[in-house]
Amino acid sequence: MKNNRVCEILGIEYPIIQGAMAWIADGSLAGGVSKAGGLGIIAGGGMPLDNLRREIKIAKEIAGDKPFGVNLMLMMGNVEQQIDICIEEGVRVVTTGAGNPGVHMKKLKGANIKVVPVVASVALAKRMERIGADAVIAEGLEGGGHIGEITTMALTPQVVEAVEIPVILAGGIGGGKQFLAAYALGAEGIQVGTKFLVAEECNVHDNYKEAIIKAKDRSTVSTGTFTGHPVRVIKNKLAKEMMNLEKAGASVEEIEKFGVGKLKLAAVDGDVKEGSVMAGQVASMVRKKETALEIILSLINDLEIEKQRLIDYLA
Ligand SMILES: Cc1cc2nc3c(=O)[nH]c(=O)nc-3n(C[C@H](O)[C@H](O)[C@H](O)COP(=O)(O)O)c2cc1C
Repeated sequence: MKNNRVCEILGIEYPIIQGAMAWIADGSLAGGVSKAGGLGIIAGGGMPLDNLRREIKIAKEIAGDKPFGVNLMLMMGNVEQQIDICIEEGVRVVTTGAGNPGVHMKKLKGANIKVVPVVASVALAKRMERIGADAVIAEGLEGGGHIGEITTMALTPQVVEAVEIPVILAGGIGGGKQFLAAYALGAEGIQVGTKFLVAEECNVHDNYKEAIIKAKDRSTVSTGTFTGHPVRVIKNKLAKEMMNLEKAGASVEEIEKFGVGKLKLAAVDGDVKEGSVMAGQVASMVRKKETALEIILSLINDLEIEKQRLIDYLA
């Protein structure tokens, strides 16, 4: 894409980033997305070091010389060693979540790695720009997984007005209409999670994929808001139990303990009743399994169609 700073900075063809998804986004998915011209991301959060190195090698084999990234969850104990592996393996992009990457910035930039933090507020976006981030991902509460408190629609233009670096919109991209809206809101790229859950290259359990395909507009809920760590999931037995615990006044510790291991239970073991089926509000717009390339090309084609529709409408 011409004149697109996200493509220029990250060295990619389309400004479409596949969001990290813990226990799910591995070298196969990241490699597939990067090969297709987007930016695939391996979810490093909680990943043991040997596994991370293995997934990076898999992504490299699939993507060839096209760049891909690794997501670092900064509260994890092994993040320093994960950074060393990214440097040794020549990873070109790192996205960060759950904290401030400030202490790692010198090392990452020294290794010529592009740093793109995920932010859910204007204040954090400004801080990230000050410490040298190359772009920020503004993530709204429509998205799947851990979320902030502001909608994508309200958050994105505020972040865009607050920083000079490019802003990538995350949360709520289901098709070309929302892709076009991302540009209208001032973003220069999109990060997509939920849609890639059903990619052929995505190794999440098939029951998880089916749960996404079956989802309707009101199928997701956000749980755990009062713990300070809200999570958007498909409303299943686990989510209802979680909400009941909250209503009954359970402590933060009890609720967090109850949630431990539940994403793995759904994503790896396929238990979509008792496990945590993290997904965004646009799960209902995901209707069939496709390859990463098909997902990317349909987003790009639909963007063109919607752009023309808008030009005609406004003429
Ligand atoms: C199953 C799942 C797991 C996720 N895990 C992570 C993660 O480990 N790190 C992270 O930064 N974001 C994570 N996210 C957020 C995504 O990277 C992305 O920003 C989000 O899914 C975008 O919104 P969408 O679901 O509406 O496309 C996760 C999302 C999902 C659906």
